[in-house]
Amino acid sequence: MTARDATPTPIDTSRPHPARVYDWWLGGKDNYPVDEELARRILAVDGTVVRGARANRRFMHRAVRAAAEAGVRQFLDIGTGIPTEPNLHQVAQGVAPESRVVYADNDPIVLRHAEALLRSAAEGSTDYIHADVRDPDTILGPAGEFLDFGRPVALSLIALTHYLGEREDDVFGLVKRYVDELAPGSFLILSQVTQDLSPEGVARAAELFRRSGTPFHPRTLPEFYRFFDGLELLGPGVIPVYGWRPEPVDVAAQAEGVVPVYAGVAVKR
Ligand SMILES: C[S@@+](CC[C@H](N)C(=O)[O-])C[C@H]1O[C@@H](n2cnc3c(N)ncnc32)[C@H](O)[C@@H]1O
Repeated sequence: MTARDATPTPIDTSRPHPARVYDWWLGGKDNYPVDEELARRILAVDGTVVRGARANRRFMHRAVRAAAEAGVRQFLDIGTGIPTEPNLHQVAQGVAPESRVVYADNDPIVLRHAEALLRSAAEGSTDYIHADVRDPDTILGPAGEFLDFGRPVALSLIALTHYLGEREDDVFGLVKRYVDELAPGSFLILSQVTQDLSPEGVARAAELFRRSGTPFHPRTLPEFYRFFDGLELLGPGVIPVYGWRPEPVDVAAQAEGVVPVYAGVAVKR
């Protein structure tokens, strides 16, 4: 178990942070009054966010299990979030205990939790990098010391890309930069918010995020497909998050209503 951090960053409790807002929707305790306030305001204008967060989490479980069952033993999870059981390494190691997992996030509170997040892991099986996805070298460099990029890696960017813009962050080029680093047989696991399925609620939620200082970029179906350019999408393809290889609990949850989140999993051949 290791956790890297060059410069500890203080936690800013004066403004809401996406990881802590999401934690509140998931029923977590690692958030501050400013986060709860924004989480409640967004919930008031977009009633899908709580079930969306839960459905997104369950997609992570299913997609990671699928990668592990396909034989992948290395995982790079960027935009990890505050620990919520089961965490990604627990899912992967539930299938194959020898799986190695690198987590990366830029939120100082996620860093604080990294030690607890990793504690349940066997010694040397997980690592944590405090870094911004927009600076790939700071993630790929250290990750390459822990993972063997000559062998398949499952790269997960789950509920992350809606915080990244096309012009300001070159989000499509950025994802490609990471995918280019991966060996054949690697997986790309992605989910993100879309305006297609709930235009008004998502527009209002996005506006509240932006006003609180967090850029927010919902994407249409054709835009979401672009992330998978050059990759082979696994069945059932790009689909609202509930629908990706649903288990009975996901089928039952669909009755609760729409979740405006697309999901997809692809393999690099
Ligand atoms: C909505 S949470 C998703 C957490 C987890 N992936 C999941 O789906 O359950 C988004 C996470 O992305 C992180 N994040 C946002 N922008 C980031 C960036 N530029 N670099 C790294 N992490 C970022 C946030 O700190 C937060 O932990």
